[in-house]
Amino acid sequence: MTSQTGLIIIRILTIPNLGTSYIAEYIENIFMIFFPNFAMGQAIIDLYDNYENLKLCQDASFGCRHQPNPCCRYVKELKREKPCGDLDCLYWNTDYWTWEKPGLLKYAISLKFQCFFHFLILYLIESDVCRNKKKICGQQNAKDNTLDSDSDVTNEKIRIKKLISSKDQDNFMASSLTKIYSNFKAVNQISFGLKFKECFGLLGVNGAGKTSTFKMITGQETISNGEVLIDKINLANEKDRFQKLLGYCPQVDPLIDQMTVFETILLFTRLRGIKNELASRTTINLINLFDLNEHKSKMCYTLSGGNKRKLSVALALVGSPNVILLDEPTTGMDPKTRRILWNCINKIRTKGKSLVLTTHSMEEAEALCTKIAIMVNGEFKCFGSLQHLKNKFGDGFTLLVRVSPKIGNVQNFVDHFMKTYKTCELRENRDNFLKFHLASDSKNSLSKIFSLMESSKKTYFIDHYCLTQTNLEQIFFNFVSEQKDTKK
Ligand SMILES: Nc1ncnc2c1ncn2[C@@H]1O[C@H](COP(=O)(O)OP(=O)(O)O)[C@@H](O)[C@H]1O
Ligand SMILES: [Mg+2]
Repeated sequence: MTSQTGLIIIRILTIPNLGTSYIAEYIENIFMIFFPNFAMGQAIIDLYDNYENLKLCQDASFGCRHQPNPCCRYVKELKREKPCGDLDCLYWNTDYWTWEKPGLLKYAISLKFQCFFHFLILYLIESDVCRNKKKICGQQNAKDNTLDSDSDVTNEKIRIKKLISSKDQDNFMASSLTKIYSNFKAVNQISFGLKFKECFGLLGVNGAGKTSTFKMITGQETISNGEVLIDKINLANEKDRFQKLLGYCPQVDPLIDQMTVFETILLFTRLRGIKNELASRTTINLINLFDLNEHKSKMCYTLSGGNKRKLSVALALVGSPNVILLDEPTTGMDPKTRRILWNCINKIRTKGKSLVLTTHSMEEAEALCTKIAIMVNGEFKCFGSLQHLKNKFGDGFTLLVRVSPKIGNVQNFVDHFMKTYKTCELRENRDNFLKFHLASDSKNSLSKIFSLMESSKKTYFIDHYCLTQTNLEQIFFNFVSEQKDTKK
């Protein structure tokens, strides 16, 4: 965009009557150094101008000795101050490779120089020179929060710390991963390990830090503190080898609109270094696995959201990596397509891969994950198998009560209820809406709770109440209600 604007501005400034061609020359030299597409564009314009002017001037210049005309600029024998008379001279030259305008030499040299210059910048960004500097700053800000965590989260952290220094490591290990953006801690000391055939579900609302975690693991973002290993290979030490063992389906589909499904997968097989003869076979296998056969010749921009997602997951599997990261793989899918994808993900896992996926859906976590963590404000709030979380946090009942806003007194009802059920916990109290958690023991039988509520209805002006058994969805909501809104 900048280059196109530059080309237009220069074209305008070189209009002879404006007398601004010296400014155009000045801008042109600056743009030529920094913008390769400008140098290329200006070279094509000059090439065309020279071609047209050459046709006109080669013959006309013979008349310069007798009559000044716009073609006389380069006729050296004329020792006139104004070789073209009172008219403006045209730029032309029989040799296209001169340094002077309209020659192309300066553009060719500028493009060559920029090739090295931009490659150097890219290399510095991609290499660890900048990363290591940032890492040192990050480490200073990271504080150990082991003491305030849930016991399972702490135990996993300790287990991973021990494993890292031992020989018998998990296939994938993340230890005390921390991400700090300027002053904001998006991910705070999370640790987890995965064996083969395990699928780890990272649950959390938007802004919890899931994508940031993935970006650190893939090397897209610097790690402020902590380390990640796949098959004993540390990302910090052997980035190339580490990335070969990792597949990643980002939250935003990494697709090129004008390429077909087949071409997209084929491109990724080539990027992964799969040999020619194997590349087509791998592509067809993936298309079959994800049920994309009828779409294989369609361009990516014509695919539905669900099929785009399926294709993105397929791309993460190219090269059969050991560990596969899937960032919200089923977003925007209808229930049928989602089930097809779940089947694929389960097949991949049972073939011996380690998977990490993020999701907002408890149903999805139940269908796919062997281990789960709920992430809030960049920290794990709980960790373990689905059954373990249900046993630990989902035990008991949830009672929702609404006290009449005009005549009721919330505090009186809370005092009365808590006196009867001393072990119960008040989880929420806002706008006359109350949420209690009651452990499921013999004292808290359903009949007793119902009879207390019925007797309290009139005395404490209760509009309505609802008693349910706690499920995973509620466990999730209990944790994520602590999530800070970063937009505020
Ligand atoms: N590049 C960035 N610079 C600054 N803050 C960021 C950046 N990327 C993400 N964040 C912030 O980090 C937090 C976690 O974001 P993200 O990892 O995308 O969450 P999730 O994937 O769980 O929705 C958010 O508050 C977000 O605004
Ligand atoms: Mg995200």
